[in-house]
Amino acid sequence: MSNAEVAVAPRSQYVDFWNSVLVPKFVRWRHVLVGGLTLHSAKVFPTLAVRPGDKVVDAGCGFGDTAIQLARLVGPSGSVLAMDCCDGFLQYGRRDAEAAGVENITFLEADVQTYPFKPIHDFCFSRFGTQFFENPVAGLRNMRASLKPGGIMTMIVWRGINDNPWLGFAKQVVLQYLPPPGENAATCGPGPFSMADTGVVTKQLEIAGYKSIEFEQVDAQVFVGKDLDDAVAFQLAVGPAGEVYREAGKLGEQRHDEIAQALKAELTKYQRPNGIIMDSSSWKVTAKNPE
Ligand SMILES: C[S@@+](CC[C@H](N)C(=O)[O-])C[C@H]1O[C@@H](n2cnc3c(N)ncnc32)[C@H](O)[C@@H]1O
Repeated sequence: MSNAEVAVAPRSQYVDFWNSVLVPKFVRWRHVLVGGLTLHSAKVFPTLAVRPGDKVVDAGCGFGDTAIQLARLVGPSGSVLAMDCCDGFLQYGRRDAEAAGVENITFLEADVQTYPFKPIHDFCFSRFGTQFFENPVAGLRNMRASLKPGGIMTMIVWRGINDNPWLGFAKQVVLQYLPPPGENAATCGPGPFSMADTGVVTKQLEIAGYKSIEFEQVDAQVFVGKDLDDAVAFQLAVGPAGEVYREAGKLGEQRHDEIAQALKAELTKYQRPNGIIMDSSSWKVTAKNPE
């Protein structure tokens, strides 16, 4: 290889899946994903160990709303590196940051697991991004590599499916009509509940070199649709129910109306004046890069 050539790691099948299958779905459901998850992270943001002037990474930043909030917290003397493996999401972040006049933020398309970070950051954040790493220990270790000695990493990850009825109930309903996804189903990675077990995540973080690991349970409501039709369509597009529906192909389409009816019957219980609102639960996980 000549000096001018750069070794490029092969793109992971999960990164491909995010780009080809999930970007269009997430863009369609952006009002639920950004509006819904913001209710959840609003509880965490005031507690983050971020100070004016800090250099921050937002790993798997998606549409970039948390990156913009972080950029405001660190102020003009600080900066945010907002990273995601899908440029289709980052385009929204760039546009929203510009519209908001937030200039201390750089949006970068990269795989957080392998990006060659410099250890210059005070804080590394991820809201629901790390659960999709093909190799969680390697990804968490690489996030640590972005931190100065003594730097802090905070990730928000979902607790179990039973603690998250906003995703769990729809899967149960859909499975009454359709078979579970086969072993070779295309997927987004380990998945939203892959970091629910505090014992497993503690071990992953220890192996990745972190110290002072702490978990804090965060219970909050999430918005899952502006009305019943919106919420049903969201459930059949994204998340565990969406995966069952997508993998069932034609059978899913054939049974669409009965599934939608059953989902609606359940979702009616969660109708509020501002939309369909359900319970959710996550871990705020904080860990330190040793001094
Ligand atoms: C559930 S979304 C969360 C997005 C955003 N943090 C939020 O809370 O709205 C997960 C994000 O992680 C990104 N992602 C998954 N694996 C990644 C990787 N290896 N490197 C960078 N981003 C990744 C996806 O593209 C997606 O934007």
